[in-house]
Amino acid sequence: MTNPSLLILPGDGIGPEVMAEVRKIITWYGDKRGVTFDVSEDLVGGSAYDKHGVPLHDDTMARAQEVDAVLLGAVGGPKYDNLDFSVKPERGLLRLRKEMDLFSNLRPAQCFDALADFSSLKKDVVAGLDIMIVRELTSGVYFGEPRGIFEEGNERVGINTQRYTESEIDRVARSAFELARRRGNKVCSMEKANVMESGILWREVVQKVHDDDYPDVELSHMYADAGAMQLCRWPKQFDVIVTDNLFGDLLSDMAAMLTGSLGMLPSASLGLPMANGRPKAMYEPVHGSAPDIAGQGKANPIACILSFAMALRYSFDLGDEANRLEGAVEKVLADGLRTADLLGEEGVTPVSTTQMGDAIVAALDASL
Ligand code: IPM
Ligand code: MG
Repeated sequence: MTNPSLLILPGDGIGPEVMAEVRKIITWYGDKRGVTFDVSEDLVGGSAYDKHGVPLHDDTMARAQEVDAVLLGAVGGPKYDNLDFSVKPERGLLRLRKEMDLFSNLRPAQCFDALADFSSLKKDVVAGLDIMIVRELTSGVYFGEPRGIFEEGNERVGINTQRYTESEIDRVARSAFELARRRGNKVCSMEKANVMESGILWREVVQKVHDDDYPDVELSHMYADAGAMQLCRWPKQFDVIVTDNLFGDLLSDMAAMLTGSLGMLPSASLGLPMANGRPKAMYEPVHGSAPDIAGQGKANPIACILSFAMALRYSFDLGDEANRLEGAVEKVLADGLRTADLLGEEGVTPVSTTQMGDAIVAALDASL
C-alpha cells in the first residue's frame, strides 16, 4: 500500500519557521507510530512570486489537486504590498481554496486551561471554551461577479458582489450539521437576513436542510452583528457556528482572540470526497505571516502543529493520534512553556519556535 501524500507549502514570513516544527512532528509519527507520509514541498504566496512571477505556479496547483492533504503555512508580507492585485500573495491562497473547491472551513476556537488568563475577556467567560466556526470558503463576496474598480461619470466605483446559490448554502450547512452531531449537537447560523437577500436565502436553505435531514440537531439563527456581540458576551452559548465567507472571516478572528492568542488556532478547509474517500483538504493556521517577527525564532508553532492534528483527524481518520498530539500541546502549555506571543506572566522567559517544537515532540514521546 502506498503512503498517504502530503504537500507542504510553507509560504512567507513565519510560515517556513512554524512548518519546520510540523516537519519534526511528521517525522515523529513515522518513527514512533508507523504513520508515514510521502511529503513534498513547494512554494506559495510571495515566495512563489519571487521565483515564478505568480503567487501559485500551475504545477503546484496540479500537485495540490493530487495529494491527500495540503499543509499551508502563511502568505503575504509588506514586500508584496504594492504588487498588482492579480499577483498578490493572497491570490495564491484563494486560488487553492477555489480550485480545490474547499467549501467548508473549520475554525475551532478552543481555550486551553493554562491560557485562560491571556484572553482579554474575564477568565470565567472563556475557560473551557470549545466552539467551531464553519465558514463557507469558496463563494460569497470573495468571488462574486461583477467585481472591480470601474469609471462611473467623473469618479470611480469599487464593486464586489455577495452571491450564494442554494446548493452552495446547502452543502456547507450539511457539513456544519454533520460536525455538530459529533460535538454538542447545536448549530447557530449567522447572516444579515435583515438587510441582504443573500441572507434571506441563506436562512431559508439552512432551515430546510435542518428540517429535512437534521431535525435532531438544535438550530438557531442570528444576525451576524448580534452574533459578534454574543461571541464577546458569552461565547460558551455556542457549539457550531455556520456562516458565509466574509462574516466567517471576521467572526473567526474574533473567536480566535477570545482564546488569548491567534498563535494557537488551526483550521481545516474541506471539499468533496476524492476517489479514495478522503475529502479534498488543506490545513493551515488561522494566523498570518507575521512579517514583523519573521526569522527571529519568536513565532508560535502551535497553530500550525494543531493544523496537522486536524489533518490526522479529518483526512486520515486518525482521531486517536490527533488527540495524542493535542494532548502533547496541552501538556507543554500546562508545564508553563510560552512563546513570545504568550507572555505576561511574571518570571516567564519565552522559549523559541524550535524549543516549543522540541518540547511537543518530547511530550509525544512521554505519551507512549
Ligand atoms: C483568512 C485570511 C484570508 C482571508 C486572507 C489572507 C486572504 O484572512 O484565512 O482568514 O481573508 O480569507
Ligand atoms: Mg482572516
